[in-house]
Amino acid sequence: MLVTVLGAGAGGGLPQWNCACRNCESARAGLLPRMTQSSVAVSSNGVDWVVLNASPDIRDQIEHCQALRPPALRGSPIRGVVLTNADVDHVAGLLTLREKTPFAIHATAETLSVLAANTVFGVLDPALVDRRAITLGAAFSPVDGLTVTAFAVPGKVALYLEGAAPETKMIGEQTIALGISDGVSRLYYVPGCADIPDWLVEKLSDGDLLLFDGTVWADDEMAVTGTGGKTGGRMGHIAMSGDTGSLARLASLKDCRKVYVHINNTNPVLQPDGPERAEVSALGWTVAHDGLEFRL
Ligand code: MLT
Ligand code: MN
Ligand code: ZN
Repeated sequence: MLVTVLGAGAGGGLPQWNCACRNCESARAGLLPRMTQSSVAVSSNGVDWVVLNASPDIRDQIEHCQALRPPALRGSPIRGVVLTNADVDHVAGLLTLREKTPFAIHATAETLSVLAANTVFGVLDPALVDRRAITLGAAFSPVDGLTVTAFAVPGKVALYLEGAAPETKMIGEQTIALGISDGVSRLYYVPGCADIPDWLVEKLSDGDLLLFDGTVWADDEMAVTGTGGKTGGRMGHIAMSGDTGSLARLASLKDCRKVYVHINNTNPVLQPDGPERAEVSALGWTVAHDGLEFRL
């Protein structure tokens, strides 16, 4: 299985258009690699690919990934796009994938209903772009050689669908994780996750590669960096640090390569010489960057 991190950033990317935090300024100064927004490409044969989440940066991501460029005058090696939620950073890139090339969108009925309610997605000609509902727990094959099984993880509805007091740890169709297998190796992709109960640790324990929610280092990171008031928890993202954080909660996964994706521009782990990076590295985690590739 070939896995390429197309975009390692969370919504906003690095630098974010309206942010001059330490990381964003470091990226502008060329001291940190820039990050495009959350997306991963997977293939079993290197020819046919499935893209996990369509970020607003997908046009550049395709240009920077040789394998995803058109193989002929018109066309694409992208056979399907699988959505893990309806967040802007995961669906806005679908609008770029218009222009009459067939592929399939795979998402839960709930996420498909969000697309259906936003008529702008009608630019994707229904005669060419199939919208296929994912049934949680039921394997499907979005591309030759790979089977995907989705399951719910704690999360919330997309920001633009929130009411006054959204539930942030819902288990349902709004936030899913993907288990992907080529019959030999298994990848888990979990770019958004608000909590890590014991059952989730158990579920992830047979993975060879885990790409996990690395949005924030600390729950109060936005306040600490002066960039906003929302906690990681309120945004539907578990922190890396702390007793309930992903470093502690996923420490028992020993036989699996653990990689943080969906990293927010405020996250101090992005600073290569900082104590946070040293801590995650010592605990066996990799911090993803755009273009990071794995061969399982
Ligand atoms: C998130 O992951 O929390 C969302 O992408 C936030 C957003 O929509 O900006
Ligand atoms: Mn996001
Ligand atoms: Zn910033």
